[in-house]
Amino acid sequence: MKPLHLQTFNPEPFVARRDALIRAMRARSATGASIAIIPTALELARNRDAHYDFRPDSYFYYLTGFAEPEAFLVLSVTPDAARSILFCREKNLEREIWDGYRLGPEAAVEHLCMDEAHPVSELDAQLPKLIANAQSIFAPLAHNSAFDARLSHALNATRALTRSGVNAPSVQNDVYVLLDEMRLRKDAVEQNWLREAGKISAAGHIRAMQTCQVGWRELDLEAEIRHEFMRRGAQEVAYNSIVAAGANACVLHYRAGLSELKDGDLCLIDAGAEYGYYAGDITRTFPVNGRFSQAQRALYDVVLSAQAEAISLTRAGVAFDVPHNAVVRVLTQGLLDLGILDRNTVGSVDEAIAQKAYQSYFMHRTGHWLGLDVHDCGAYSVGQQANPSDASKTLPIFRHLEAGMALTIEPGLYIRPSANVPEKFWNLGIRIEDDALVTDSGCELMTRDVPVDADEIESLMRRG
Ligand code: GLY
Ligand code: MN
Ligand code: MN
Repeated sequence: MKPLHLQTFNPEPFVARRDALIRAMRARSATGASIAIIPTALELARNRDAHYDFRPDSYFYYLTGFAEPEAFLVLSVTPDAARSILFCREKNLEREIWDGYRLGPEAAVEHLCMDEAHPVSELDAQLPKLIANAQSIFAPLAHNSAFDARLSHALNATRALTRSGVNAPSVQNDVYVLLDEMRLRKDAVEQNWLREAGKISAAGHIRAMQTCQVGWRELDLEAEIRHEFMRRGAQEVAYNSIVAAGANACVLHYRAGLSELKDGDLCLIDAGAEYGYYAGDITRTFPVNGRFSQAQRALYDVVLSAQAEAISLTRAGVAFDVPHNAVVRVLTQGLLDLGILDRNTVGSVDEAIAQKAYQSYFMHRTGHWLGLDVHDCGAYSVGQQANPSDASKTLPIFRHLEAGMALTIEPGLYIRPSANVPEKFWNLGIRIEDDALVTDSGCELMTRDVPVDADEIESLMRRG
């Protein structure tokens, strides 16, 4: 895949996604007209004149491929016609001298394959007319108060036109609910972005393992990873990198700080590149000095075999929680075998699982959807069912995996000091995370350019 800045923009996949949304809108308002209004993200100030880097809203980008701020997509839909209308910033030479190129409405029509484009300054004046006579509105509901207020204002302006024969919409839907369902299944173009994000992310982890030095700070390693991501064309990290030395690995949302990478300690890195706005999300845990101790290796191999079990169960037709339940079983068995869980206290593996004894050491889920957002959208359950062990509660019915869904597989064990746990395991935090694309027969791991086997990690670090 060419670096991002050398690729020519192809609007086709975005047009196809708009068409799919239009079909979904029609299915919910078959007899009448409807309208969708989807804003991009707001620009955020960091302090006084300094702003956070702008990133388009994922839903908006998914439908337009347009990454400038101050933009709105409107889809005006009837049972037999539909128009895509973009509102964006006007060309403005003075602003472009300061802030850079703007596409402008005129060029937007052809470049983004819109039916119409207008200056964003006209949105408030045009919306009431666009909304008029639509039966249903599809827009974000209560996600952003400024947008909610703008939509209320437009709706009220439409209602004020009713004496001239106009009807205002009577149904309001959360457009994100429709888009969540679409974004869950990645099209071929999205799959390629995810693969590339996975490759770049893996390269960053390889660099971290190869450059790691006893005595460095966590931030030194973070800089190496970021350097590798950027030189390979990532526009940003997909989320703030976790680089956790020693005991810091037991803090799940640790960042990267000034702690020293010490001889004999492990280092846990959870870092991913964002490429084409798609996320990579990899965790590797490796010994700072390049050699796992016996205890570290024993615990590492338990996590690795839990991950292998989850990977072997990840394929179309399997319920989302099946790999997680398998991970729980392998980890619980491993904790019993290593004496971290005491058989005399928790009993058999089944009894230990029933008591959730593993939760002191494994307290997160095995994975999450992955896409434009690192924790991507999409419901995990499709309903609720009776709970056989507690009639007052229900249990989720988990969704079945389908080809084209993307998710992470990331078991871990985090052992805090405790009188009940052999001291050699204290302060070890291990997570292994890869990104999987579900196929009919299994899954494609998109992040395995960086090794995961303990021997292979040691060998890579020796060569570094
Ligand atoms: N990096 C966030 C996660 O692994 O879910
Ligand atoms: Mn992660
Ligand atoms: Mn993750």
